[in-house]
Amino acid sequence: IDHYRTTTMPVAIHTFRSISSTNDYAKQFSSSQDFEEPQVFVADTQTKGHGRLGRHFYSPIDGGIYLSILIPLQNRQTIHSGLITTGTAVCVVRSLKRFFPNEDFRVKWVNDILVHDKKCGGILTETISSLEDGLHENVIVGIGLNINSANFPSAIAHKAGAIVNNTSIDKNRIAASIIDHFFYMYQTYASGNFLQEYAKLSETLGKKVQVVMGNQTITGFADHFTGDGALVIKEDSGQMVTVSSGEVTKVYL
Ligand code: BTN
Repeated sequence: IDHYRTTTMPVAIHTFRSISSTNDYAKQFSSSQDFEEPQVFVADTQTKGHGRLGRHFYSPIDGGIYLSILIPLQNRQTIHSGLITTGTAVCVVRSLKRFFPNEDFRVKWVNDILVHDKKCGGILTETISSLEDGLHENVIVGIGLNINSANFPSAIAHKAGAIVNNTSIDKNRIAASIIDHFFYMYQTYASGNFLQEYAKLSETLGKKVQVVMGNQTITGFADHFTGDGALVIKEDSGQMVTVSSGEVTKVYL
């Protein structure tokens, strides 16, 4: 474990060559010990990386970033997880922009990072109630980025993309920048102030979309985001529907 001082607070960093999933490890860590400072788990490769909706997250060894941030929430503080995910998406794009200023990164609601219209990264936010009182919640924010990855499994090849690191920037520098920026921004997540920036980066807003939420499919115009990061869709009938989780499965051009 390394102790590391971000611009805004001290954190403990655990690094791994290979791990099943940094999110799963963080979950286990969170339920097996007490800790006061945030813990960060970073791995070079994962054997069971996963994303939202129980999907696999392709995590090979060739340069990707796979990390999870575990934050102890004290005093029954709660933050809407939609705000953590959208805020982290803005944070990741801001950091990537510093290293890859010529790339046009976009965000697909709610947690996908896109480059050249393909998914190059994702965010998985999970909350865990503590065993003692079931009330204090810890939050785990997992961030995965494909950098220089190729040979995507055929099932995802048509939609997966990678950030091309031509100048061989050390990926640990990028990860450090994301971690630093995360803690800087985290304190303001609850305010939702970043949502305007999120909307500007959004690939979803202003388009006709289809969103699948559980066994429900909603089709309509992606109109705006609510103050907690949910998407409001205007159906053809004029009815406004708010979706707080789900996946945009289709964009009509
Ligand atoms: C998604 O695409 O739905 C989210 C992907 C999140 C992937 C990251 S990689 C590090 C962390 N560990 C995991 O198992 N998942 C997240």
